[in-house]
Amino acid sequence: MSLLKVRNLGVQFQTNDGIVSAVNGVNFELERGQTLGIVGESGSGKSQTVLALMGLLAKNGQTNGEALYKGQNLLSMSAKELNGIRGDRLSMIFQDPMTSLNPYLTVERQMTEVLELHKGMTRREAKKRAIELLEAVRIPEAARRIDMYPHEFSGGMRQRVMIAMALLCEPEVLIADEPTTALDVTVQAQILQLLKDLQRDFGTAIVMITHDLGVVAGLCEKVLVMYGGRVMEQGDADSLFYRASHPYTIGLLGALPRLDHDGSELVSIPGNPPNMAQPPKGCPFAERCSHVSNRCATELPPLMPAEHDGRVLRACHKSAHELIDIREVAHA
Ligand SMILES: Nc1ncnc2c1ncn2[C@@H]1O[C@H](COP(=O)(O)OP(=O)(O)O)[C@@H](O)[C@H]1O
Ligand SMILES: [Mg+2]
Repeated sequence: MSLLKVRNLGVQFQTNDGIVSAVNGVNFELERGQTLGIVGESGSGKSQTVLALMGLLAKNGQTNGEALYKGQNLLSMSAKELNGIRGDRLSMIFQDPMTSLNPYLTVERQMTEVLELHKGMTRREAKKRAIELLEAVRIPEAARRIDMYPHEFSGGMRQRVMIAMALLCEPEVLIADEPTTALDVTVQAQILQLLKDLQRDFGTAIVMITHDLGVVAGLCEKVLVMYGGRVMEQGDADSLFYRASHPYTIGLLGALPRLDHDGSELVSIPGNPPNMAQPPKGCPFAERCSHVSNRCATELPPLMPAEHDGRVLRACHKSAHELIDIREVAHA
């Protein structure tokens, strides 16, 4: 049985402009110790996908489909059942640590409280464990710094504190929503290395959300590329990176800063994501796609195994062969 199996997940929001379908028909599986990357530009539905699993959608949101954690559907659990799993077996790191750290409590108080509550530890045991975790995320002088308040840490250190908090109960699944976006490149690389090390040591499965394909390349075995609330392309990371065949993925790869180029050559995909309150009838990417045909505007392409590599699923009316050739020309 998969650790996490998401089947046909959908998220809708009721708004004044009508229903916003933020996530549609998402499927994935995650095994112990694996890493899944969810990539896409801002607004593509990445965060709502994982917030749905955590039962953390805004009040106007609702879900359909299934999210099975060890066979139990997270989407239909009572608040009490979900609370028992969340923060303990399933844990989440947010982009901005200040959204999940309490500014008025010392790091010690925040960490020990969780351990006292979920693990029944005494304050003393809890403090010892909390210091070990701060050391595991490489916070220097952890025993002294544990008495500090969140604002007394630098951005990178605060992100480490949040990772340590997320690991307190040794979760089986760690969901990281753009955990390094706000950090500079060096600190970002350190945090990603840290996640890799922790995964090796604790066997944690990770869902890593990012708009940066470079982050995914170094970390993930499986990748889901989202756009306009839908999966455009999905598969194992190697196949997807070396033989991407969806125009959107190819566009994102084009927007990836390369080490052999300087940042000034960074190209991004022209245009903006669709208005989700009035989604286009056909492919959500049609309006920005350089390979668009008439059919794309009227017919939603289904997510299907690619002809060139059955391990990759793609949603595109164009043949993969045609697009791979284009990509090779573009990279030549
Ligand atoms: N509470 C809400 N009400 C209406 N629409 C929402 C709400 N929360 C998110 N959305 C919409 O859902 C879509 C997907 O958002 P999100 O998953 O947060 O994107 P991202 O890929 O940047 O994480 C966006 O179009 C966003 O505007
Ligand atoms: Mg987001």
